[in-house]
Amino acid sequence: GIDPNFDENREHAGEENGLDVWGPVDPPEKLGIHGAHVAVDYDICIADGACLENCPVDVFDWVDTPDHPASERKVEPTREDQCIDCMLCVDICPVDAIDVDAS
Ligand code: SF4
Ligand code: F3S
Repeated sequence: GIDPNFDENREHAGEENGLDVWGPVDPPEKLGIHGAHVAVDYDICIADGACLENCPVDVFDWVDTPDHPASERKVEPTREDQCIDCMLCVDICPVDAIDVDAS
């Protein structure tokens, strides 16, 4: 699953869609972690969709990631500032790709 200490263990690789990106990034195979308060490990996400469908405040958007080995789309936590720390997405993701820093 996602490393909850990604902000210490990974390099800040830039920004995409207004969100922090944490490396290593080497597209299309290696896309890193997107977000800060709500973070999605793009290299783990298999596009299950349960997070996006069930988030009560609609934090996530789909983005296309053609030729990524795990899935051809990912969820971007575009509205992470709206997150109410319910932890539903963290609990529901079948591959443990999401970290929410509720502390
Ligand atoms: Fe949405 Fe809850 Fe996940 Fe925050 S913790 S992104 S509110 S499902
Ligand atoms: Fe991806 Fe997990 Fe959501 S696989 S689409 S982060 S439920």
